[in-house]
Amino acid sequence: MSLLETNQNPLASLDDWEDDIVKRYPEPGTKAKEDYRNYVDSDRVATVKEFYRLNHTYQTYDFVVEKEKEFLKFDKREMSIWDAVDFLNTLVDDSDPDTDLDQLQHLLQTSEAIRQDGHPDWFVLTGFLHDLGKVLCLFGEPQWCVVGDTFPVGCKHSDKIVYSEYFEANPDFHNPKFNTKYGVYEPNCGLDKVKMSWGHDEYIYQIMKDYLPEEGLYMLRYHSFYSQHREKAYDHLMSAHDHEMFKWVDKFNPYDLYSKAPTPPDVKALKPYYEELVAKFLPPTLKF
Ligand SMILES: [Fe+2]
Ligand SMILES: [Fe+2]
Repeated sequence: MSLLETNQNPLASLDDWEDDIVKRYPEPGTKAKEDYRNYVDSDRVATVKEFYRLNHTYQTYDFVVEKEKEFLKFDKREMSIWDAVDFLNTLVDDSDPDTDLDQLQHLLQTSEAIRQDGHPDWFVLTGFLHDLGKVLCLFGEPQWCVVGDTFPVGCKHSDKIVYSEYFEANPDFHNPKFNTKYGVYEPNCGLDKVKMSWGHDEYIYQIMKDYLPEEGLYMLRYHSFYSQHREKAYDHLMSAHDHEMFKWVDKFNPYDLYSKAPTPPDVKALKPYYEELVAKFLPPTLKF
């Protein structure tokens, strides 16, 4: 089957990907599932699998180069953060409106959990911004180019990446330039030199890179890099500085995964605080 004949968006909701991660990495102290893939909703398991199949098959090194060329021109839209949030909230999918939170609610639950723990304001802001790159979906990008665990391209795919068996269909898997341990990289060259699979993490990092402290930028850029921050599969590409900075990625991750609460945050009451916070760090508009 060619890519065009395939359903590009198998997930009923982008959140199904994140819900799957929570099942894979349950919150410490909660009862871990023996096999997270055997959870009740088998339809969801099937769509998540199909989503990863597409992601692992088509995210090649050359594909990432193309996407960077296309999106890092930032010629799609100029928006304030608030316009971007409103825009992201127009993302309608087949999720259940009774139980699923919208995108703004997820951002606020993440940032409010960070704020309640007394972290610095730039950390709160990072939480509030971290998924804004999902506007890629609204620029017509399929799910497998927006979300999903990210991984380095241009070198061997770790078997610690979820559903790594699907990489066999990826052309890079068979290309000697890209399929060795280091591929096109040098040992411990540092992640800044390493291309990651394309998605909302790299995109929002590139938009914010002049405005947040480096710790926050690492959180934005690598928050979906589970094979490293959970599995330590790419230590051989990381520099000592990356390891220092990943302490912050690790700090951020629980707020992203485990802050989903059934009660939606009070957007109206919180807005003044966030308006001030956004104005402190960011220019009035940003190019997407
Ligand atoms: Fe994310
Ligand atoms: Fe998130």
